[in-house]
Amino acid sequence: MKLKAPQAWHLSNGNALNMPVTRQRPTPRKPQWIIILICFICVALIGAYVYPPRQYSSCYFFASSVCSPFKDWLPPMARVLTDDEFSSHVFIRDILSMPHVEPKNPKIAFMFLTPGSLPFEKLWEKFFSGHEGRFSVYVHASREKPVHLSRLFFGRDIRSAKVVWGKISMVDAEKRLLANALQDPDNQHFVLLSDSCVPLHNFDYVYNYLMGTNVSFIDSFWDPGPHGNARYTEHMLPEIQLEDFRKGSQWFTMKRQHALIVLADSLYYTKFKLYCKPGFDGRNCYADEHYVPTLFSMVDPTGISNWSVTHVDWSEGKWHPKAYRSQDVTYELLKNITSIDQSYHITSDVKKKVTTVKPCLWNGMKRPCYLFARKFYPEALDNLLQLFSNYTII
Ligand SMILES: *[C@@H]1O[C@H](CO)[C@@H](O)[C@H](O)[C@H]1NC(C)=O
Ligand SMILES: *[C@@H]1O[C@H](CO)[C@@H](O)[C@H](O)[C@H]1NC(C)=O
Ligand SMILES: *[C@@H]1O[C@H](CO)[C@@H](O)[C@H](O)[C@H]1NC(C)=O
Ligand SMILES: *[C@@H]1O[C@H](CO)[C@@H](O)[C@H](O)[C@H]1NC(C)=O
Repeated sequence: MKLKAPQAWHLSNGNALNMPVTRQRPTPRKPQWIIILICFICVALIGAYVYPPRQYSSCYFFASSVCSPFKDWLPPMARVLTDDEFSSHVFIRDILSMPHVEPKNPKIAFMFLTPGSLPFEKLWEKFFSGHEGRFSVYVHASREKPVHLSRLFFGRDIRSAKVVWGKISMVDAEKRLLANALQDPDNQHFVLLSDSCVPLHNFDYVYNYLMGTNVSFIDSFWDPGPHGNARYTEHMLPEIQLEDFRKGSQWFTMKRQHALIVLADSLYYTKFKLYCKPGFDGRNCYADEHYVPTLFSMVDPTGISNWSVTHVDWSEGKWHPKAYRSQDVTYELLKNITSIDQSYHITSDVKKKVTTVKPCLWNGMKRPCYLFARKFYPEALDNLLQLFSNYTII
């Protein structure tokens, strides 16, 4: 867990600390005192440039304006934690350090977040068949009761509630799915999928990819633009600083410890519930795009991949990502997506969009980034079924 003191903290407290010392300076009645003082300041300044000060006390001699250049050289001072934050850190650290006990029959929980029926059940059935006992399915249908066409989905609906796009109810549905899936101690990895998601590889490949590593595949990046940091509000202080705020796609996969943290956390969750919503404080913040990416970049930054294993194509630059119709679904398209081995993040700043390209590293090795893809129209089902055995050879 990293704790950083923000610059603002230094400034306000730096002033407070300097005040009494400044007042204690000798009154300028005796000129020799002034000369001595100026000489002393000069020597100290030169000394400070040559040997950057290591201790905060060096700053006490200067007014804060003189001192500010030196602040960058000082070690950051830890902020005093609030009570909630302190207990939160204690339990999160405890969950993260739990010894890993591998169950005899480790499973992956596939959690579908959908408004109603799932158009690709038949495709998923093809994906799952022959692997009974190594996966479990959970369906959260937020609008209408789904009609299931595959036996693997019968009786897998969990109690659900309405989901409003961009609001905390989306995160609540994710938590509901995690809570249901955590009840089965065999579930070791948890995958969140939508009704428009399809698998890109065969079951064994996906199973080994997710179970063979210790990280959660959670998308998380720093976006200084209007669709990133501009959504941050200082109401989230002191626990969430602007520099902690992250953005990312909601379609995660997470290991069991991380799923427990999502359910155990109320401190950070409450901040997003109260202050990250459409229209709050003149901002349109969407909790599902920020809560999980921010939480894990704060509490376990090296335990997450920073990219999502669910592919989506934003390259058209529209408000919605590209959605594939029946005729778009070709062997070539699927091969194109499965061969991508670099993740892209583009900041939303209109003037200087920054694109970050990083190799997708799996246990330190470069591997294809994506296991699933969205968004596919229901009409694409037949093509996908036909191509499935062909494009998922690995
Ligand atoms: C995951 O972490 C545990 C404990 O730190 C370690 O024993 C295990 O080898 C790791 N597994 C992988 C695949 O890195
Ligand atoms: C993910 O990003 C964080 C910074 O937010 C960094 O500390 C961490 O090392 C990154 N993780 C990986 C696997 O690169
Ligand atoms: C596949 O990728 C190649 C090279 O990037 C591109 O030229 C082609 O249009 C892509 N095909 C499809 C169907 O996306
Ligand atoms: C599978 O892919 C190969 C290679 O592109 C192609 O020649 C073959 O016709 C495909 N088979 C089917 C059933 O689509």
